[in-house]
Amino acid sequence: MIELKGLTKVYGKGRNTATALSQLDLSIRKGEIFGVIGHSGAGKSTLIRCINLLERPTQGEVWVDGVELTKLSRGQLQAQRRKIGMIFQHFNLLSSATVYDNIAFPLRLISTSRAAIDSKVNELLTLVGLEEHKDKYPAQLSGGQKQRVGVARALASDPDVLLCDEATSALDPQTTDSILRLLLDINKRFHLTIVLITHEMHVIQSICDRVAVIHGGGIVEQGDVAKVFLKPQHEITREFIRSETQNDGPLRAAIDAPHPESSQAVKITFLGQKTYESTLSHVVKETGVIFAILQGTISTIKDVPYGQLIVRFEGSAEAIRETIGKLTAQGLDVEVLD
Ligand SMILES: Nc1ncnc2c1ncn2[C@@H]1O[C@H](COP(=O)(O)OP(=O)(O)OP(=O)(O)O)[C@@H](O)[C@H]1O
Ligand SMILES: [Mg+2]
Repeated sequence: MIELKGLTKVYGKGRNTATALSQLDLSIRKGEIFGVIGHSGAGKSTLIRCINLLERPTQGEVWVDGVELTKLSRGQLQAQRRKIGMIFQHFNLLSSATVYDNIAFPLRLISTSRAAIDSKVNELLTLVGLEEHKDKYPAQLSGGQKQRVGVARALASDPDVLLCDEATSALDPQTTDSILRLLLDINKRFHLTIVLITHEMHVIQSICDRVAVIHGGGIVEQGDVAKVFLKPQHEITREFIRSETQNDGPLRAAIDAPHPESSQAVKITFLGQKTYESTLSHVVKETGVIFAILQGTISTIKDVPYGQLIVRFEGSAEAIRETIGKLTAQGLDVEVLD
């Protein structure tokens, strides 16, 4: 659906240049929610703004639904942009227009009939739950309500793609969740492709299908959210995950605490239905190994349950090896820690 090829963006001219993106390739599938996570200055906004050419890349190609946008004339680009909606961190609403008029704005630009506008805007007001607020001005709304107006306005021209630049960063955690649920709902309902950028791993974890980690203008890691979240390969990714989960200090102390000579600390990862099964009890019953729990988490990635349990197995080296072998054979991931 979206293909970025060799994307490079250099800001400025002469000696004062900053390379925001460097030879970046990225492929986003139709109908997925794709997250891009990175620290401040990593190039996230530049990347997402290149997808609708709000920012023109210095080099490279931007393909959306089979069309290369950098090759289009002004008029052709305007038409293609209608298929790409966008929402922003600070909402970017027209402060002197009502909720209704903000949502109607993109339709008036393409001179839609009054009746068609009215029916579309009312439909969108219902979708985002703002029917009762249609005559209010942005200043009379909460942050979450303003972002709902942003979403409705972005959907007015029936886009195939929705770009979200830190759309929940200005919102409190509960409001963030309600906007994320709204995005998930419209993704499912309209089969809309959503590209979302954020610096918060929990945003990725709650609604994204796949994720790319951007650092220094390049992608350092990407894949299914479960894979990247549970088996991060790059240090930057690990940092983002650590900031969401329990911190390492107490765990390190638990691993280093006095323990029997013949023992082994391991991290066991359960994914999907296996999270709720009794595999671990069965296996240790068979092998005679006992264990102490050092740390544990059970949560979900999008709708998929997962568990991570850090335990110290105690028993003979042979029995511990057998235990790890059996757990692995049952489809659990076991990582030896010390
Ligand atoms: N208009 C501009 N002119 C010059 N440099 C720019 C411009 N916009 C961005 N940059 C530089 O490009 C790099 C990437 O910026 P970008 O805004 O894409 O980062 P970001 O990941 O969105 O950061 P944040 O999380 O703070 O929003 C930064 O070093 C930034 O200073
Ligand atoms: Mg940004």
